[in-house]
Amino acid sequence: MPAIHLRQGGISLVIGLDGGCPQVLHWGADLGPELPDLGILDDAVPHSALDVPVVLGLLPQASAGWRGRPGLCGHRLGDGPPGFSPRLSLHGWFHHGREATIEQADEELGLSVTTFLTLHDGGLLEMRHEVANRGGTDFALDAVSVVLPVGRAGTEILDLTGRWCRERHPQRRPAGQGTWVRSGRHGRTGHDSPLLMAVGTPGFGNRHGKVWAGHFGWSGDHEQFVDTVADGRTVMGAAELLGSGEVALGPGEKYATPRYFAAYSDHGLDGISEAFHRWFRARSHHPSMPRPVVLNVWEAVYFNHDLGVLTELADSAAELGVERFVLDDGWFRHRRNDLAGLGDWYVDEGLWPDGLHPLVEAVTSRGMQFGLWVEPEMVNADSDVARAHPDWIAGPAPRHDAGSPLPLPWRHQQVLDLVNPGAWQYIYDRLDALLSEYPISYLKWDQNRDLAEMGHDGVPSVHRQTLAVYRLLDALRAAHPRVEIESCSSGGARVDLGILERTDRIWASDCNDALERQAIQRWTGLVVPPELVGSHIGPTTAHTTGRTHDLSFRALTALFGHFGLEWDIRQVRGAERDELRGAVGLYKRHRALIHTGTMVRADVPDPSLMLHGVVAGDGTRALFALAAVATSYSEQPGRVALPGLAPDTLYRVELCYPGPDAAGTTFVQASPPAWVAGGALASGRFLAEVGLPMPVLNPEHAILLEVTAR
Ligand code: DGJ
Repeated sequence: MPAIHLRQGGISLVIGLDGGCPQVLHWGADLGPELPDLGILDDAVPHSALDVPVVLGLLPQASAGWRGRPGLCGHRLGDGPPGFSPRLSLHGWFHHGREATIEQADEELGLSVTTFLTLHDGGLLEMRHEVANRGGTDFALDAVSVVLPVGRAGTEILDLTGRWCRERHPQRRPAGQGTWVRSGRHGRTGHDSPLLMAVGTPGFGNRHGKVWAGHFGWSGDHEQFVDTVADGRTVMGAAELLGSGEVALGPGEKYATPRYFAAYSDHGLDGISEAFHRWFRARSHHPSMPRPVVLNVWEAVYFNHDLGVLTELADSAAELGVERFVLDDGWFRHRRNDLAGLGDWYVDEGLWPDGLHPLVEAVTSRGMQFGLWVEPEMVNADSDVARAHPDWIAGPAPRHDAGSPLPLPWRHQQVLDLVNPGAWQYIYDRLDALLSEYPISYLKWDQNRDLAEMGHDGVPSVHRQTLAVYRLLDALRAAHPRVEIESCSSGGARVDLGILERTDRIWASDCNDALERQAIQRWTGLVVPPELVGSHIGPTTAHTTGRTHDLSFRALTALFGHFGLEWDIRQVRGAERDELRGAVGLYKRHRALIHTGTMVRADVPDPSLMLHGVVAGDGTRALFALAAVATSYSEQPGRVALPGLAPDTLYRVELCYPGPDAAGTTFVQASPPAWVAGGALASGRFLAEVGLPMPVLNPEHAILLEVTAR
């Protein structure tokens, strides 16, 4: 059977081209350069079934016998037959190196589907379809799915879910028969978005088991699913959830699915994150290093903007070694609280008679970059812009005046209809003006509500609104290429590879509680590398949970991300201030390693402990953090493995923070393990297989181990 074989990064993707319907015959471990005659993979034909083997097409179709979720749903409009069941067959293909393009067409229906596949360096597969209407009438498109087969060994599903301040927590279940679907109808990615949907061998862990995993790079409505059909085959995939009637392709028009990213690993989730992280880091627009230390003033001042206080904060930040100062919500017209002002993107003349210039000057003259918060996609009904342009507020029906009904408010705000060219241009012009007037290095781009009843001219518009937001970001980046942008959405409600293609980091959560952050960052890091995950040391008592944590636990949690501070640091004095300055120094010393090395997570049997680390590409250095996230069932942790080091290299392991002298206060023990006093010497193999006995930690405390090749 003729086939396309893409091989890269230990992965093989084999697409059979025999017969009418191209099909993925294998996606998983590398098969080597030679393939047998692939006719040997033709399935049996059972009784009470179709008379020919059922083909799982590159785009699954009922016309090829597939009884799982169809790859394409839609119908032709007009007087002719609706053509509800496409019969797409191979029309042409192109294969070069690790890229392939395959075209299928249904001549009678006047429809073609082109599939684009790239197997990237680290083995990450990127896949998308483009549907073209080649007929003479409109074609209404309901759904187009990107689907891949999962190996038969994959029988357990892991995906992520969450809520505000508790994003990206794992949930597991057996695959069984049937469909496990995660739908997101938030109009944005969503706090509960799966980020990653993985299927693996039972009990697969951080560093063991076979895993097939996928991520959908889209910031609008979407579905991700795992579908196990009666014949025993399992597929995983994703589709955009299109609004009723939103996509009707005119003759010659095309619809492109968002990109689906998929990885396979034979050594657990660490192999999956390595594929994603390598893909991110290979991008030409991956943000520049070193990633600066941030001070965000939100939890220090909230809406109470005062030049004197903010200048004191800038002073205090510079003294601690901060490199980027970010002015959050509250600086623009009418914005004294969250009831009013969104949309009026002019510096408030009452608060800032000389514009932001005095503050920008205070920040930049102290050697720091200046960053500014915006929320361009939103509008308060109580704003000049809403009063002047009631038709710019999105809703289920066209709005001709301020009396027209609005969707339910969320944080007192509505969505600006960016599909409306006038509204889009207004926002572009205001942001462009601000970026041109001030030396702004960084925008914190917020988005604080779900899109409800989202429509433009009476037609659902989440799809078009999402593309309009992307266009806005793209245009501003082209005009201001040096400005970095953070994707924030009530914390971490917009974390996906669609938004991350045009932004430089994400705000993982509004929760700065280090305990919550341990989990949020662990699971966010499955896909997003640490240099793109904003992670701040918050106040001693977390504002969103009321929990109080030592500085060392907060600092060690923030360390494994794009590090910053978010509290009133003017109040931090004496020994605590010295320790905070030390934590900033610790980040600066290790950020190059953390932001380029390989993330590793140990499979620690004690659920009260989490161990994660980062190992330099050349294996010469590593950092590991051991965090106690609860009280343990055992008296002491015993030996904990330090995985991922070069097996035959000899390493020195030292406890570097809070430091051996903190043993009496931090560790609840009569004496720490013997090696803590002078460090330990052992091979990478020994450290991975045997590990080291760890100190007894108080719950909600952590230690940092520095590992250096001898
Ligand atoms: C929500 C964000 O996630 C916060 O960090 C902060 O910027 C507020 N919005 C401001 O309104």
